[in-house]
Amino acid sequence: MAQAIRIHETGGPDVLRLEAVEVGDPGPGQARVRHSYVAVNFIDIYFRTGRYPMPLPNGLGSDAVGVVEAVGAGVTEVKVGDRVGYLLGPQGAYSDVRVMPAEVLIPLPDGVSDRTASALMMKGMTAQYLFRQVYPLKGGETILYHAAAGGVGLVACQWAKALGVHMIGTVSTDEKAEIARAHGCEHVIVTSREDIAQRVREITDGQGVPVVYDSVGKDTLMASLDSLRPRGTLVSNGTSSGPVVVDSTLLAVKGSLWMTRPAMVHYATPRSHMLDMAQELFDLVLAGKIQGEPNQSFALADAAEAHRALESRRTVGATVLVP
Ligand SMILES: NC(=O)c1ccc[n+]([C@@H]2O[C@H](COP(=O)([O-])OP(=O)(O)OC[C@H]3O[C@@H](n4cnc5c(N)ncnc54)[C@H](OP(=O)(O)O)[C@@H]3O)[C@@H](O)[C@H]2O)c1
Repeated sequence: MAQAIRIHETGGPDVLRLEAVEVGDPGPGQARVRHSYVAVNFIDIYFRTGRYPMPLPNGLGSDAVGVVEAVGAGVTEVKVGDRVGYLLGPQGAYSDVRVMPAEVLIPLPDGVSDRTASALMMKGMTAQYLFRQVYPLKGGETILYHAAAGGVGLVACQWAKALGVHMIGTVSTDEKAEIARAHGCEHVIVTSREDIAQRVREITDGQGVPVVYDSVGKDTLMASLDSLRPRGTLVSNGTSSGPVVVDSTLLAVKGSLWMTRPAMVHYATPRSHMLDMAQELFDLVLAGKIQGEPNQSFALADAAEAHRALESRRTVGATVLVP
């Protein structure tokens, strides 16, 4: 029997239950993966609380690394013994072993350990698509990025630096500011004592930034709009503080702004494109430009504690569960 965290109803962290589940042999197009690390992401909280609906009972999590221990008929993407990671596919990553569609599995290169990959699959691929696809950065721009010391945030700090982008990052505490700076964030705004839009205007000589990547949502929306230059772009890529509702008139009034709400699944498909994205990420890792290590580790059985830490802003960088 496998061990898996499952939920039977939506709610607080206490709804996460460790259960014994049957994991059979992989069917056609599937592979069985034994996890070495399972990554915790803020999106898992949206599923747990019901903000993102799913049928119940269900597993949770969409981001893990491990080794392929069996493949079903017709699988060409991976073979037994391959080290792999994934960030797409059905919920259920919070487990020690599971069956997955082979088409979402990404082989890990030699030189990128499971531990490093566990901090980078979802988080690094998110930085890739935000910076290289949604609003492609060329280098030289000054950008605003919220939650710069978070899981995606610490990868974004490093990726911005690698691109020659001047990143203004927001964080809630001075400790997080130090960590963001150490990862390459050039200017840090500490939101507990500084006004975001005012500081952005000071840093940009009154111009504002061409793009804001805002994963915080409700609490930062107005500051993000007020930080943009005319015809700037708000990339609303998350809602950690609550959902965002925008009257389109506001976009006109604040400077004929653009706004997009991107989702990974529309940027990381088809498979060939997902593999190209991963290659770009791994190349930066192998070149020493992006480092990834879990900053917090919990036992699989302690997934509820990991959720409490993430949603109460006690974490920095990546959080993983170890089966
Ligand atoms: N669209 C996509 O495809 C995609 C993919 C991956 C992730 N995301 C989004 O990107 C964001 C970051 O994900 P992550 O897993 O790396 O999480 P994370 O950034 O490690 O954690 C969220 C951070 O947001 C900040 N925050 C501000 N207000 C908050 C509030 N009211 N409650 C909780 N946190 C708050 C906190 O940083 P401070 O304490 O420094 O403010 C916190 O550490 C999430 O919103 C996630 O949904 C989107």
